[in-house]
Amino acid sequence: LSISQLSPAEFSKLVLNASAYKQATKAAFAAGPGQVPQTLEGKLKGRTVAMMFSKRSTRTRVSTEAAVALMGGHPMFLGKDDIQLGVNESLYDTSVVISSMTSCMVARVGPHSDVANLAKDSSVPVINALSDDFHPLQAIADFQTIHEAFATKPAHEASLGLEGMKVAWVGDSNNVLFDMATACVMLGVDIAVASPAGYGIPDRMKEIILGAAKGVAKPGKLIETTVPEEAVKDADILVTDTWVSMGQEAEAQKRLKAFAGFQITNELAKRGGAKPGWKFMHCLPRHPEEVDDEVFYGPQSLVFPEAENRLWAAVSALEAFVVNNGRIL
Ligand code: CP
Ligand code: NVA
Repeated sequence: LSISQLSPAEFSKLVLNASAYKQATKAAFAAGPGQVPQTLEGKLKGRTVAMMFSKRSTRTRVSTEAAVALMGGHPMFLGKDDIQLGVNESLYDTSVVISSMTSCMVARVGPHSDVANLAKDSSVPVINALSDDFHPLQAIADFQTIHEAFATKPAHEASLGLEGMKVAWVGDSNNVLFDMATACVMLGVDIAVASPAGYGIPDRMKEIILGAAKGVAKPGKLIETTVPEEAVKDADILVTDTWVSMGQEAEAQKRLKAFAGFQITNELAKRGGAKPGWKFMHCLPRHPEEVDDEVFYGPQSLVFPEAENRLWAAVSALEAFVVNNGRIL
């Protein structure tokens, strides 16, 4: 349901498995169209994955459907007008019924309690495909992207070899940030978050993020500021997301005003003193107000490999939670 439910070793393994499946599948595809590596072939044969989405999605939907197809299973997309997800029927009834007929529920919801309640009453694994609080599949793909772009040291058990790096998040403190920050703390990556006053990290989320430091020898630091330049100083990676998340549409005008001055640009990176060779990341969908075209489409942007890595993150999560019953091997 969120990255905080994983140990650093488990999170790292999910990321490394995602990377390994990417390489193996690309090699198999190169050998012939439709070739699937033996390690994935038929892993979900005869199984149905229910995809219950109460919000729009491009990447999460396509990556999950494609991952299930690669593994030989049947992805069943159930949009908000298709089923009674929290409407006209209790979540309990929906969860018991759908889990009696499928092998996994992948759910995109509003309130996090919706996906937590589905999981509580389900007889099959439930994977959070984005809630108002967390986006764990995105965090797996994001660290796969960071690992592929930066890791020089060999990865070991509990880490991806990224200790000492710095991420600068400039923008809204939201669901994508909360799981990314949790992963940063676990892996010894510092994360500086710059949000306008009133849009910082809520205390209950700070507790979850900092809780990830437990048992970690050198956890990453969480730094908070309202000054974008401060966050950007010495950062290896600049990250942002939309200023208006799904469900916040009524606040759009107020938010656009509050976030003025927080757009990521090359000038901001220069003024703030980002590290030479800094990279840019964004989970997408993207709007020009949070990052300009020069950065988004520029040579330091990782956004398209990051989006593609959603497929491999989905493969890795489905293998761990559906094929291996939650054992992350
Ligand atoms: N990044 C992401 O989750 O994109 P979608 O909302 O398009 O699925
Ligand atoms: N923060 C965004 C992420 C979309 C993938 C939202 O919740 O709408």
